[in-house]
This record gives sequence, C-alpha cells and structure tokens, in this order.
Amino acid sequence: MSFPNSSSRTRKHKLILSGVVVPLVILLVIVLLVVLIPGRKKSPTSEGLEWKGKGTDEYFHEIILGRCYNYIATINSELRDTDCLKIWKLLQNAFMYKDPCSVTEEDYKPLMEFARHPIPCNKSLFWSKTNDLVHRYTKANRDFLTLEDTLLGYIADGISWCGKPSSPGVNYKSCPKWTECENNPSTIYWKMASKMFAEAACGTVQVMLNGSTEADAFRSNSIFGSIEIFNLNPDKVSKVHIWLMHDIDRPQSESCTGHSVAKLKEILESRRISVSCEDNYRPVQLLQCTNNPNHNTCRICS
Ligand SMILES: *[C@@H]1O[C@H](CO)[C@@H](O)[C@H](O)[C@H]1NC(C)=O
Ligand SMILES: *[C@@H]1O[C@H](CO)[C@@H](O)[C@H](O)[C@H]1NC(C)=O
Repeated sequence: MSFPNSSSRTRKHKLILSGVVVPLVILLVIVLLVVLIPGRKKSPTSEGLEWKGKGTDEYFHEIILGRCYNYIATINSELRDTDCLKIWKLLQNAFMYKDPCSVTEEDYKPLMEFARHPIPCNKSLFWSKTNDLVHRYTKANRDFLTLEDTLLGYIADGISWCGKPSSPGVNYKSCPKWTECENNPSTIYWKMASKMFAEAACGTVQVMLNGSTEADAFRSNSIFGSIEIFNLNPDKVSKVHIWLMHDIDRPQSESCTGHSVAKLKEILESRRISVSCEDNYRPVQLLQCTNNPNHNTCRICS
C-alpha cells in the first residue's frame, strides 16, 4: 500500500475544498434566490390588485360577440335574427365604467329582456354541483337544455368580467369575488339569468344533483336552491324529476332517500309541484360509463 505523495495530497485538499465550498456557494445562491425573488415579485402584485377574483378575460368583447354569433348561427337557429351587436352594447352598458360592487338588476334589465327566449316544455334541466356531467349530457342529448344552453348562459359561461369607473372602463386585472361584494357584475348576471331560466320552464323539468359530494346533494344556498326552485311557476311546471348521480368510482354520500332530497321535495310540494327522484338515471350513467367502461355498474347485464 503506498501513501499519497504531497502533490496528490494538495490535489486532494483542493478536491475536498471544492467539494465543500462549491455546494455551499450554490446553496447560498439558491437561498438568496428563494428569499429575494418572491419578495420582489409579490409586493407589486399584492399591492396593485384591487380585488381577489380573476380579472375580466382578455378578448372579452370578442368572446361575447363570437359566442353570440355562434349561438344564433349554429346552436339555436330560431334566434338567427338576433342582433348580437346590440347584445354586446347592452352588456357593455350594464357594467362598463361602473363601480363593480354596485351593479343593480336595473343595469342588466335591458339585456335580459332583449336576450330572453322561450324554452320548450319538458326540456329544462337544472343542475347543482354536476357542471361537467350535465353539459356533457346536454351536448349528447338535445332533448334537454341547461341555462348554459340558452343564449344568456352560453355567451357568459366560464367568463369573468367587471368594470371600473376610470378609463378604459373595464378591469382586466382583478374583479370582486362574491365574498367581497354580492352586487358584482357576474353574480347579478347569473342570478337574473337563472331566475329567468326558471320562470321560462314548463311541463316536467329535471334537475341533476350530485350524490357524491361531502356536502348535501341539495343545498339551499346554491343557485338552484335559492333562486331557481322559487321561480318555477306552479301554474306551468307540474313536476320536477330529480336525477341523483353518483360518481361511479366514489362512495355514494346521498341517495334519493337522503335528508336533503327530502327537504327539496318538501319545498317543491309546498309550492304544489310534484316530485320524483331517480338514483343514477341510466341515460346519464351510461355517459359516465364512457370513462369507466369496465366498472360493474356499466355492464349491460348486471
Ligand atoms: C311533457 O310531458 C308530459 C308528461 O310527460 C306530456 O303529457 C306532455 O305532452 C309533454 N309536453 C310536450 C310539449 O312535449
Ligand atoms: C360531485 O362532486 C364531487 C366533489 O365536489 C366532484 O368531484 C364530482 O365530479 C361531482 N360529480 C359529478 C357527477 O359532477
């Protein structure tokens, strides 16, 4: 066994030195980056943003106009003569250059009146906490219409918008959340559009609820529970058919015999509207099965 000579020892020292110092320096740089960068980034954004919600979507104007033309040209040809430019003007008048916390129903009234259209009897489909599934279903089955399949629902679905008093009259950076102020442009819009959608319903209507949430399937503070059920007209609507859908691969938290469904029945029956409830309405379940074809509940013969 040979001892290392002195020159190889200094090389070793250098190696140890660089093995310790270099990682230390890198670590220091990383720590500095981690500490400094967010600090530098954070301060302007958190100070600059007025509201907690997402700002008006980029291309808001183009999206609304494009969706309106798409709707009247390819989705609902009965509305083919609707003036989409006027829809945009009325929407613009409702919120632009205004304080986004003091929008009123009056502001939206001209737009709502202009864009309202009849819904054929037996076709209205309400929903709560089933956003994705219900719209996959109405795309597959044209016998039913949700609010988002009407003109007003279609043009604004998934979009955020609000105004501000100073130029350019639109806030693209941030918009008030519902918790910051209730009278904000999109909350008022959806409340009014939901109310109108419910008022237009007739015959048998359906509602798709979620039997796999942690919370109740029927929640009285939802749009459906607080606005839509109270604006169904008992002279026109004879029956509400509940479709209680469970996620195929998740435990069921509520069925048709559950207590929140009972509460919904009670409210509707007191308004002289009869109610029926079906667990896992099969046509919708078959759609769920497209994502889960091998599951037991998806077999043709079970
Ligand atoms: C709606 O459904 C009811 C009962 O299912 C039926 O009697 C009625 O004719 C239907 N109305 C329309 C317009 O299809
Ligand atoms: C039901 O709610 C849960 C929890 O919010 C959600 O993950 C699930 O996608 C919902 N199911 C349907 C059918 O929408």
